[in-house]
Amino acid sequence: MKKTWWKESVVYQIYPRSFKDSNGDGIGDLNGITEKLDYLKELGIDVIWLSPVYESPNDDNGYDISNYQGIMKEFGTMEDFDRMLARAHELGIRIVMDLVVNHTSDEHPWFVESRKSKDNPYRDYYIWKEGKDGREPNNWSSCFGGSAWKYDEATDMYFLHLFSPKQPDLNWENERVRRAVYEMMDWWCQKGIDGFRMDVISMISKDPAYPDGELKENGYGDYGPYVYNGPRVHEYLQEMNREVLSRYDLLTVGECAGVTVEEARRYANLDSRELNMVFQFEHMNLDGGETFKWNDRKIDLVELKQTLSKWQTQLHEKAWNSLYWCNHDQPRILSRLGNDGDAYREISAKMLATCLHMMQGTPYIYQGEELGMTNVPFSSLEDFRDIESINAYHEYVERGRITPEDMMRYLCCKSRDNARTPMQWNDEKNAGFTEGAPWIMVNPNYPKINAKEQLSRETSVFHYYQKLIRLRKEHEIIVYGNYTLLLPEDPALYVYTRELDGEKLLVVCNFSDQAKDFSLPEGFSPRKLTRLIGNYDRPAAEVRMELSPYETIVFLQASK
Ligand code: GLC
Ligand code: CA
Repeated sequence: MKKTWWKESVVYQIYPRSFKDSNGDGIGDLNGITEKLDYLKELGIDVIWLSPVYESPNDDNGYDISNYQGIMKEFGTMEDFDRMLARAHELGIRIVMDLVVNHTSDEHPWFVESRKSKDNPYRDYYIWKEGKDGREPNNWSSCFGGSAWKYDEATDMYFLHLFSPKQPDLNWENERVRRAVYEMMDWWCQKGIDGFRMDVISMISKDPAYPDGELKENGYGDYGPYVYNGPRVHEYLQEMNREVLSRYDLLTVGECAGVTVEEARRYANLDSRELNMVFQFEHMNLDGGETFKWNDRKIDLVELKQTLSKWQTQLHEKAWNSLYWCNHDQPRILSRLGNDGDAYREISAKMLATCLHMMQGTPYIYQGEELGMTNVPFSSLEDFRDIESINAYHEYVERGRITPEDMMRYLCCKSRDNARTPMQWNDEKNAGFTEGAPWIMVNPNYPKINAKEQLSRETSVFHYYQKLIRLRKEHEIIVYGNYTLLLPEDPALYVYTRELDGEKLLVVCNFSDQAKDFSLPEGFSPRKLTRLIGNYDRPAAEVRMELSPYETIVFLQASK
């Protein structure tokens, strides 16, 4: 397999609003990030993915952009950005920007023009349709609740917004839109950035017939089949690749809701005609259900293994995986799949990290994951800031579909705000995030879980992540080896092997709070094994071992 830096890198995602506030207004900012680059250097990551820092009215925290070439006032200035970029590069850290081009803000000048009249030169930058029998053009629902169409009086037509009404979808069929996007991307590349994480990029090409979708539980139609991996998406990405991406040395990752293995092999083919890798969602959707993600179900380990293993084996030598448990849209993995109680918090955080980081693909760490940050004990709707969570509460509770008590419990399990509370730097006021009043509550567990304490303690989750990152640099097998799942039906153990040029890696993870027996699989012999990392003191491998609760161990077997 061809070796490239982005296959060998570890990426760290920063959600700037919640990372570090440098001026006491309660909102994280670019200077705050610059201040903390040394911390990230110490962790050992290679690349930062920066969630959007562009000008935005913040209906969806920056994912609604009103100026792609300006910095959000709350986050600082373009000079602050340049300083951050230069300092990151000095430290050998690359910066990947969030590219949000499925939609803009309704306050973007293109949309302000577009809605003015049917013959405005920007009209076709967006998707406008006539109503049908006095109603919306079709039955699609928006991701954030309600119809995906909004009526606009000025021209008596509807515009499409797959997300909030303040996020109108761009019309990618329009060549001028595509040119404008490529020019803007080129401008950032000229500035020296190192790649793009492409927001909902699998949704940019819609079925031109705009048919009604299959009715869902909420009374709206499912747009999925007409939007995900649409008819021209690969054509657009190949064009983008020719026009911009191929001219620079970039890391590109597409957020691809609804992506299948077959589609991923096209988006992220090793021939690099489109993107380097995709974010798939199958493993994150395993605890979904009838009412979308709003429930308190747990992910079933057997299903999780099946799903992740499918991606591991079916992209092998064809495309490239990204590896993630967390991002700004997901609850904290430690509360979701691990155990956030005091006894096993750190142990299970290390186990989850090992399970992910030993797979094939480029690992992503979301801010605070390296400290074992947990979900948040929100107690009322007022504690939430996220548009999706607030809208969902109203939609499900007011329809009588979910009781207020249940919905509050579901929000605590699944709300995106679980990932968005401030980074916990130390045990001082507001976890050291801000001198002022934070824009969203701080998780009250910060006196116990914070970076300062973890940096000072060799056995911390932070130092464990540091070691995982280092191991990836020391052993090519972790990056390039092939993957085989063992014990697929075991409900508690996730065990897999990696292999490269006769060398073998054995990764053992106990996902349960019980001790479990484990026998070395065929082809492994205790004498030949070196222990690379683990979360308990276990001096050597044995043919039969009793694994402790949430124990993980990685053994390397040399080729001879
Ligand atoms: C992506 C982002 C999410 C945002 C949505 C609309 O899924 O990750 O935060 O709300 O796109 O831009
Ligand atoms: Ca600030």
